[in-house]
Amino acid sequence: MPDSGTKLLGLIGDPVAHSLSPRLHEFLLARAGLNYCYLAFRVPRARLAAALQGMRALGIRGLNVTIPHKEAVIPHLDGLSREAEAVGAVNVIANEGEKLVGHNTDVQGFLAPLRARGVELAGARAVVVGAGGAAAAAAWGLLSAGAEVAIANRSPERARALAQRLSRWGPVSAHALTALPELLKEASLLVNATPVGMHPHPDGITVPPQLLHEGLLVYDLVYNPPRTRLLFEAAARGAETLGGLEMLVHQGVRALELWTGHRFGEGDIAAAVAYLEGVVHG
Ligand SMILES: NC(=O)c1ccc[n+]([C@@H]2O[C@H](COP(=O)([O-])OP(=O)(O)OC[C@H]3O[C@@H](n4cnc5c(N)ncnc54)[C@H](OP(=O)(O)O)[C@@H]3O)[C@@H](O)[C@H]2O)c1
Repeated sequence: MPDSGTKLLGLIGDPVAHSLSPRLHEFLLARAGLNYCYLAFRVPRARLAAALQGMRALGIRGLNVTIPHKEAVIPHLDGLSREAEAVGAVNVIANEGEKLVGHNTDVQGFLAPLRARGVELAGARAVVVGAGGAAAAAAWGLLSAGAEVAIANRSPERARALAQRLSRWGPVSAHALTALPELLKEASLLVNATPVGMHPHPDGITVPPQLLHEGLLVYDLVYNPPRTRLLFEAAARGAETLGGLEMLVHQGVRALELWTGHRFGEGDIAAAVAYLEGVVHG
């Protein structure tokens, strides 16, 4: 039950109606017994500046930021974390009293499930399909962990722009999707950072199945469905697989830790993944 000490958290984006974030955060807040409440706010582009003024005026402790505001929000903030600055996108704002600080917890959210599996990233060859915000977070995370990254995108010019921006952090190259056969021969990690395969179009797949092979870890950032067609095709060819739900939980947990100072454990994370699997399966 909210009381006069309850602090407010939330999500801004457009659309937000199908977001899993309110369910995830309410689950974790209740589990930890924290006196916060989390709401989803649909904020059209034209209202972004007003929404952030509202955040300051009302003392909202923290907001998640989703499409289409992850980049547009930056000029309205007073500071950025190292990750947010490198990736060029913000998915979390923390209200530090006089200052709104932008963070990017997608980076740690992306890396955490790989680390939990003991995946050696230093020197690994990774292929990231996509060149949007999720691809930028994944590619920067991989570069910072010492991997070599090939970005392949439907619009090659967008892949080039991203690779150019990230090139100061490590070896990164840009490609069209037609380069996938060559790129995947040498790769040990494939990341799908596009919405292809997502509900309500679960038959979509970005990579021709015959290119998937043993010795490849296939990581699909799509979390609805939790196991996409790409992951089924990969498993059928002997590849290891990882879905996007764990990343979703990890990026949310990092955000909550920033906002509340509470530390969540492995048990909380596993419980949240199981809970969201149930939510997605309805
Ligand atoms: N698991 C998690 O925690 C997590 C976190 C963030 C995002 N995600 C997921 O990651 C995905 C991408 O998110 P985002 O924020 O990066 O989106 P975004 O910024 O809109 O970028 C989308 C990317 O997908 C490509 N794309 C879109 N439709 C395509 C198609 N039909 N065929 C080939 N490529 C296509 C786009 O290519 P063009 O450049 O050619 O348009 C672009 O590179 C979403 O499904 C999102 O749910 C998951």
